[in-house]
Amino acid sequence: MCAKGDISLQRVKVLVTRQWPQAVERDMREIFDVTFNTSDTPMTHDDFRAAFQNFDAIFPTVSDSIPADAYGVENRRVRLLANFGVGYNHIDIPAAHAAGITVTNTPGVLTDCTADLAMGLLLCTARRIGEGERELRKGKWVGWRPTHMIGAKVTGATLGIIGFGRIGQAVAQRAHHGFGMKIVFYNRSTIAPDIAAHTGAQQLGSVTDVMAASDFVSLHCPGGDETRHVIDAQALAAMKPTGFLINTARGDVVDETALITALKNGEIAGAGLDVYAQEPKIPSDLKALENVVLAPHLGSATDATREAMGCMAFNNARAFFDGKTPSNLVQG
Ligand code: DGY
Repeated sequence: MCAKGDISLQRVKVLVTRQWPQAVERDMREIFDVTFNTSDTPMTHDDFRAAFQNFDAIFPTVSDSIPADAYGVENRRVRLLANFGVGYNHIDIPAAHAAGITVTNTPGVLTDCTADLAMGLLLCTARRIGEGERELRKGKWVGWRPTHMIGAKVTGATLGIIGFGRIGQAVAQRAHHGFGMKIVFYNRSTIAPDIAAHTGAQQLGSVTDVMAASDFVSLHCPGGDETRHVIDAQALAAMKPTGFLINTARGDVVDETALITALKNGEIAGAGLDVYAQEPKIPSDLKALENVVLAPHLGSATDATREAMGCMAFNNARAFFDGKTPSNLVQG
């Protein structure tokens, strides 16, 4: 499955925190002295502290909760955190680096699937597909009629993108070339005009400008302290009442309470969410709303992508323990 070469690192003890695609787990067994978390349930803080003492590398993932004191734990053995995932806001990077621990991630390989899911949520939300399916399954659909379950037209509408990195650009490509959408975006740094030109995208000066100009807003910035609640009550108030918010980035980018209020009060028309502030806990107020589509963090959930993520994490670790520089180092 993954390119392995003839290297054996059987003296390197590694821990995989959750179940991985089988083919990648097979490759891991061939190269490393690997322990898998066969229960596939979240590890506790105590488990993590012990793992930092007992393994040379840990392969954590985006849903792991690593306690702050693990990085400085006595008799620490761990030298590498090879994350299965592009987002690493669950890892305290300064603490890891201060302790001399290398961190890697898996960028690039989940761009297409995450962008596809963002478009899926956008379409589902605009065209009320979740709501329609619920009606039909409950046996409440009484047949076609001109005024039944009218949604919002996607083709030709304006899409605002917050965070114009790989995934934001991939969404812009799909929306512009597939659906004739006009693209505006906010990005912290200036994006080279030739990159934006592929989609005719226009960079605006602030998140509020993008919220106000768009019929749909899709979030693609990283999680973490800097982006926490970037979408707050004020940002939501700048949206059109006919606007839709799509989030496949991280839950804490959005102030969930403010979003629920905006949805309840009709300040915005709807939302399509794949990520939540306290996964897997979803506020019951959110679940009660008809004008939201809720997915369980499925952005990268395809065979090809999950295998590619596993191989990338595996190859980062292989390079590290082979004395080379891993391709996907997370910098400070
Ligand atoms: C990531 O890798 O950060 C994603 O959220 C997993 O799909």
